Amino acid sequence: MAKLEVIKYGHPTLRKIAEPVDAAEINQEFIDDMIETMVEEDGVGLAAPQMNVSKRIMIASDLENIYVMINPEIEAYSEKSATDAEGCLSLPGLQAMVQRPEKVIVKALDREGKPLKITAKGLLARVIQHEVDHLNGVLYVDKMDDDSLVWLRKVEGEEEVARDTTNVDEVIEVFKKNYNGQLEKLAFDVSQKE
Ligand code: NI
Repeated sequence: MAKLEVIKYGHPTLRKIAEPVDAAEINQEFIDDMIETMVEEDGVGLAAPQMNVSKRIMIASDLENIYVMINPEIEAYSEKSATDAEGCLSLPGLQAMVQRPEKVIVKALDREGKPLKITAKGLLARVIQHEVDHLNGVLYVDKMDDDSLVWLRKVEGEEEVARDTTNVDEVIEVFKKNYNGQLEKLAFDVSQKE
């Protein structure tokens, strides 16, 4: 197994609609690498496009189990929604509040290519929706409450992280400078989706 590089906000692959996977051609090593990457990065979910692989593969954790989902489709959403903080390994250091349906029913294939159906609520429902969005070129910053966007900052000697208010324009500048200076094409907006 190997830890993979997670591409960052601004990379065009994050805005592409990922391709379905043929059940007979599921790459087990790639899935193992995704799991290792998520665990090492302390994430609770990861989608293949974040590895610069535009395929409909995602993993989601409920902090007990890790679910591998190939070609996931959300079949039903609860009417009731919940608002909670989200972050993303492609947007390191950032967090914002996102409102989403509280429960979902998702069908997918598991890593063996067998049909899988999960009814999820709470954290798992949120992670599944966040990762399915990645497969459609959508990021949580497209759905967030803009006023809640913050940089998380570790404070020496304190357990609680500090939250510094920021905004989308500032975030774009930081990511251009830190991660995407080498890219010819930047794709920050959903409108630029291919
Ligand atoms: Ni993410």
